[in-house]
Amino acid sequence: MPKITVSTLAKMKLEQKKITALTAYDASFAKLFHDNGIDIVLVGDSLGMVLQGGDDTLAVTTDEIAYHTRCVRAGSKDLFVVADMPFMSYANPQQSCENAAKLMRAGANMVKVEGGEWLHESIQALTQQGIPVCGHLGLTPQSVHVFGGFKIQGREQEQADKMVADAQALERAGAQLLVIECIPSALAKRITEEVNIPVIGIGAGKDTDGQILVMHDLVGISAGYIPKFSKNYLAESGNMPDAVKNYCSDVKSGAFPTSEHEFN
Ligand code: KIV
Repeated sequence: MPKITVSTLAKMKLEQKKITALTAYDASFAKLFHDNGIDIVLVGDSLGMVLQGGDDTLAVTTDEIAYHTRCVRAGSKDLFVVADMPFMSYANPQQSCENAAKLMRAGANMVKVEGGEWLHESIQALTQQGIPVCGHLGLTPQSVHVFGGFKIQGREQEQADKMVADAQALERAGAQLLVIECIPSALAKRITEEVNIPVIGIGAGKDTDGQILVMHDLVGISAGYIPKFSKNYLAESGNMPDAVKNYCSDVKSGAFPTSEHEFN
């Protein structure tokens, strides 16, 4: 598979070629995902839930993400790896740069931060220092206690308009990729159309530039239940390589997600 870069991803948006992404936390899965067509791997702070067994992502540290980023990078030198910046690791520009540097040195190609317009200065500082940034809007899990639970975001008009403005602010600040999570599909389509950077959705309908899933959801071993927006590809494919290939081909063809996976 050709090496993916930020330029490849930007071109894929322009050419309307869907981007495929999964979370990964170790070398074996990183290699498997790369070999079977995944464009982007995210070392997500979801590891606090799916690996560490926590109720949320807040306990995860930068050193833990750096460790798993090194493991993922060891699995494939050609993968495009995004590493999550954990809760309270990017509260100001200087702290953002110090922590992001640890993740880039561990092998990341880009770091991901949760939040909107307020991140402007940190994102500017990161990109000025040569660190590519992915934004994350919608149901941002690090804010679960502000939301009062893992709830769909952006259903109110005012909240939806603010999310579009935040997406544009992230792009202006220098973000080169955006993840949007658990929002109504119509809002996801609007955001995807109103920014020039590629937008990757999870629980955000079919009209984003690409899709991401937590790998444990794809193989049906998440804590107790499969989220509405996910699909157990292992159950229908019978083995891991085919599960990943089928996910990629469904994302590329537009067969996943369907209306049963989306929110209104
Ligand atoms: O941490 C994570 O896995 C994520 C994805 C859900 C996008 O942020």
